[in-house]
Amino acid sequence: MLYEYEKPQHDNHHLYDLNYDIDKKYCMSVLQNQLKNEEIYQDPKHGVADNWKVVRLEQFNYADKIIEDVGLKDFVKDYRSRFYLLEANSYLKTHIDYGTKCSLNFIIDGGQSPVTFEDEMELMPDPNSRFSYLYTSCLFNTSKPHGVSNDGPKRILFKISIFDKEYDEVRVKIKQKSGGHFYNQLGGDPKYKKFRDKFDGQKSLGDIYYDMHTSNLMPTNMKIDLDLFHEEIKDYQDLFEQWGPHHSDLPRTGLALTKLKEDVKSFPNPANWPLDAWAIEHPNQPLVDTDFTEPTDVLLNMKSLKPILEYKDYLARCNLLRWHDTARFWPHVDAMHPFHNLRLWGTNDPDNYAFCFWDELEGKYIKEENVEAGRIYVADTAKWHHTYCTADNNYQFFISLKVDAYDKIKQNLL
Ligand SMILES: [Fe+2]
Ligand SMILES: [Fe+2]
Repeated sequence: MLYEYEKPQHDNHHLYDLNYDIDKKYCMSVLQNQLKNEEIYQDPKHGVADNWKVVRLEQFNYADKIIEDVGLKDFVKDYRSRFYLLEANSYLKTHIDYGTKCSLNFIIDGGQSPVTFEDEMELMPDPNSRFSYLYTSCLFNTSKPHGVSNDGPKRILFKISIFDKEYDEVRVKIKQKSGGHFYNQLGGDPKYKKFRDKFDGQKSLGDIYYDMHTSNLMPTNMKIDLDLFHEEIKDYQDLFEQWGPHHSDLPRTGLALTKLKEDVKSFPNPANWPLDAWAIEHPNQPLVDTDFTEPTDVLLNMKSLKPILEYKDYLARCNLLRWHDTARFWPHVDAMHPFHNLRLWGTNDPDNYAFCFWDELEGKYIKEENVEAGRIYVADTAKWHHTYCTADNNYQFFISLKVDAYDKIKQNLL
């Protein structure tokens, strides 16, 4: 692979990575002193779990410090500290934590065993599920059914259980403090509340998104006639604009296929920006994909793009990207639960284009193989992905559609 990237930060409705540098040695020494209080876990709902031991702490100053460090002081008031010990080579059946709304979890000894979120209570979690995650420190949504498969050594977890605030509100609060990445700023900074309200106000799909996206790229019966496309696109070369205002050293250009109902004056045109970058720079004028509903003249006039126009009632932001050698997109996600649009994608030259998705259990990005030139695919862009191009004149059909297109797309899957 030409480019390698680190493991992405989990930031979803199940868990949110904290990257908190906890003092494991200190926690282990505290645990050693408290082992006399170790109990086999049981609660009125789930009964007894012999392989799962708990040590409850009455008062723990270090937990107060962590709560303060992550920005939750005075926000979260009812929290309690515990150590949980999971035996080697055992599992925790799918459950919802009793009484706890969410928690801060820190693995302080043993490996990163996959935690799996399931739809319903099941006996055995499936570590190969798309909802399996590896973490060392995170905010954890304990109100969703989850289980752990531990095929390694004994796993020791330090956990601060939160009883008075929901996962989502705690996540926003932590992001307010953490800043840094675009996603944290947009997700937590009061400056971007207008963006969040607009984003969350869109119609959403919910969990049926997962019923459709059963692999990273799913071929549809839509295919662009590339001979015709290559002929037609010659007339539009001057209309391509640099993609967004950043990384302008990279040869990435875009040509909008859809536009806003009312134009926003800007160069590049907002349709040719990454919309998270747009939101960061225009906090009072946020735009979302579903604002771009009107076909441009380019889309109306290019006969080769007719398969896209078939979706004219469902158009959201669509673009034609023209990349040359060395162009790339850094790792990102485009769709987030509960999903406000659907992403389709294709390229004229898959031999010189890498579409790479994060594989959690493999611990690396993996390039998609066997992509067909001109074929339009449904792309599971809720998963972290990056892309790059290794030759000039690579065109990408970059299609986002309103969630109402769900049934039509499903019918068009091959
Ligand atoms: Fe749990
Ligand atoms: Fe993407």
